[in-house]
Amino acid sequence: MSKLADIGTVGVVGAGTMGSGIAQVTAAAGYDVIVRDVESEYVRDGLESVESGLERDDSLDGGAVRAARDRVRGTTRLDELAEADLVVEAAAEELGVKQDIFADLDRTCADGVVLASNTSTLSITAIAAATDRSERVVGIHFMNPVPVMPGVEVVVGEHTTAETVAFAHAFAEDLGKTTWESDDKPGFVVNRVLMPWINEGIRAYDEDVASKEDIDTGLKLGTNVPMGPLELADHIGLDIVLQASETLHEELGDRYRPAYLLRRKVEAGDLGKKTGKGFYEYGE
Ligand SMILES: NC(=O)c1ccc[n+]([C@@H]2O[C@H](COP(=O)([O-])OP(=O)(O)OC[C@H]3O[C@@H](n4cnc5c(N)ncnc54)[C@H](O)[C@@H]3O)[C@@H](O)[C@H]2O)c1
Repeated sequence: MSKLADIGTVGVVGAGTMGSGIAQVTAAAGYDVIVRDVESEYVRDGLESVESGLERDDSLDGGAVRAARDRVRGTTRLDELAEADLVVEAAAEELGVKQDIFADLDRTCADGVVLASNTSTLSITAIAAATDRSERVVGIHFMNPVPVMPGVEVVVGEHTTAETVAFAHAFAEDLGKTTWESDDKPGFVVNRVLMPWINEGIRAYDEDVASKEDIDTGLKLGTNVPMGPLELADHIGLDIVLQASETLHEELGDRYRPAYLLRRKVEAGDLGKKTGKGFYEYGE
């Protein structure tokens, strides 16, 4: 089991879809992990998801699963992250929320600790501005589902030092991921290209170009991607897609306007797989 020198404990803020996945792969790679969410119920759900994810990981035998599970603990208290040697934030995709978290982390964590955000589209520079350590704030953007997806995007903020960037690559690589780098521009590489694609799929459905199944099949078989746009939107979470699209729209203009039907589904609380219904319906 490889581990980066000097990094024993990794803090993860947010125990949702991404936070639990990040906690899982980090524990499987041999790090101790502390996962923090705002309610104990969310912490418990996140830990259950880590546990079931570890059990599904064919590369781990029973002993390794138990050992990894024992390395993860949950908390609702941010001050417990004081012992972390690195923190990865995967909370709600709202700038104010992330800035509050980073300001708290800056006060809580030791001076040399790198604070990373898993943001899909928000500015790393703006998040870092809430701290007094903007040179040690970086984007480590995992893809969903974290245990399965092989790539991680490293996002370089205005003040992020080369040392911090190198550390972010090394950490992600130590988790078995391949990395690429993006400047801190809206949507970075992946979501800048992906979000208009998803929104166009939703518009094609809303404008009766084809059934949702045919749109997804067309894109899958026509362009050799594993999921079509509607299926992928459900998988990501429609609230996350809407927030990411709104950020891109605000920053980059009209070609990024979120589809009307996306907003309506989020208003109705149909957020995709995580609520059991989005464009498709999902059983227990
Ligand atoms: N879902 C995806 O496909 C995906 C992919 C890449 C990046 N991201 C990004 O990862 C982040 C998390 O997304 P997600 O899909 O896991 O969302 P999610 O809604 O599944 O989970 C977010 C969690 O953060 C918690 N939270 C909110 N405020 C908090 C705070 N102050 N402290 C601690 N926890 C807090 C929430 O209670 C929730 O459990 C977002 O920034 C998102 O844009 C998501």
